[in-house]
Amino acid sequence: MSGIGGRPRIGIVGAGNIASLNVHGYLSDPRCDVVAVCDPVEGRAAAAAAEWGAPKAFTDLGAMLADPDIDAVEILTPTHLHHEHALAAVAAGKHVSCQKPLANSVADARAMATAAEAAGVILRVSECYRHYPPLERARQLIAEGAIGRPTHIRLRTVVGQTHSDFQAGLEADGYVWRMNAHSPGGHLFDDMIHKYAVALWLVDRDIVSVQAVVRRRDHFFEPCAALFEYDDPRLLGTMEVSYAPSMWLRSSFYGADEFFEIQGDEGFLWVTRCTGEMLDLSPIVLYQGGKDNQTTTTFSDVPSAWDLGFDRSAFHFIDALVDGVPAEMSAEDATKALQLCFAVYQAGNTSAAVDPRTIEDKVVPDGWPR
Ligand SMILES: NC(=O)c1ccc[n+]([C@@H]2O[C@H](COP(=O)([O-])OP(=O)(O)OC[C@H]3O[C@@H](n4cnc5c(N)ncnc54)[C@H](O)[C@@H]3O)[C@@H](O)[C@H]2O)c1
Repeated sequence: MSGIGGRPRIGIVGAGNIASLNVHGYLSDPRCDVVAVCDPVEGRAAAAAAEWGAPKAFTDLGAMLADPDIDAVEILTPTHLHHEHALAAVAAGKHVSCQKPLANSVADARAMATAAEAAGVILRVSECYRHYPPLERARQLIAEGAIGRPTHIRLRTVVGQTHSDFQAGLEADGYVWRMNAHSPGGHLFDDMIHKYAVALWLVDRDIVSVQAVVRRRDHFFEPCAALFEYDDPRLLGTMEVSYAPSMWLRSSFYGADEFFEIQGDEGFLWVTRCTGEMLDLSPIVLYQGGKDNQTTTTFSDVPSAWDLGFDRSAFHFIDALVDGVPAEMSAEDATKALQLCFAVYQAGNTSAAVDPRTIEDKVVPDGWPR
């Protein structure tokens, strides 16, 4: 799709907990303007519009979408509303960037992609992990052959506590819809969707089989371990998620951290942090085991603050709007991440291997919602 050129005028849909991190990139990109904010909660859009210097505030999405002076919208509403809101924006002729997860079902995600294509507008998913500099560099190193042929990808998430101002400032209403029937599975859906997106993108390969154990305790994911078979039989992936309510994590954002380990037949790559700052290590460590020369390289120069992923995702949407570069993450890729998420639930429910490509609707973990 060619770019719209000019200076995109962005409308923000939803001014809740994640909005300030998400909008910061648009505010700091000199190529675009944030011109409107919409949120039905009394005073929320007006306050955000004042803070961000946006001239217009709306409490009704239909009214905002009818405004011809908005070219594109950033959808930051609760996930169960993405389908309705993206379809409305597309019908109004707006380009759409939508926060992850794209939708609550594969069928809804496909309908959104079809509608955008028919309308000739961009629909992309804002997936900050795929714009996080250490992960971007790791992906580049893998593609350059720095660890030889990848054989194993390990994605580890720990969720605990944090003293961060960001976490302390979160509004409680942002946690209600995530943990009730509005969500097809709570935290493992809402947060792990990032890791599924990364598992596919790091090596640009599809996953064809998933096995998983998903325990159903406080947050319906702890602990969870999943095994991925890629379409390259020489490559496996594992994902582990654990909840550590008595562990305080160093973080400027949520009380969580992630570690990524990619092994190849000639070396190892570690991305040692993401949401948190738990380890005092370089964000990337590369081990290369040549016969005559074994080296460990650190990449301390790579910026590693988690919020950079949001900024860079916003810059990228402007790249797509202005220059017509393919908009990452595509709806197709976001749909594959959704299928992977539901495959983990189905594998956990049935204790059997699941091909994620067979999932066309959604799968809810047994017993959900509590
Ligand atoms: N990339 C990340 O790391 C990350 C982190 C947190 C949240 N998210 C995603 O961002 C989205 C929002 O999450 P959040 O934590 O900010 O949730 P939230 O509940 O705090 O905020 C959602 C906002 O949308 C508003 N809203 C509801 N209906 C609306 C409508 N019709 N028009 C306009 N606004 C409306 C709500 O009033 C609320 O202010 C979710 O999809 C979530 O999964 C992504």
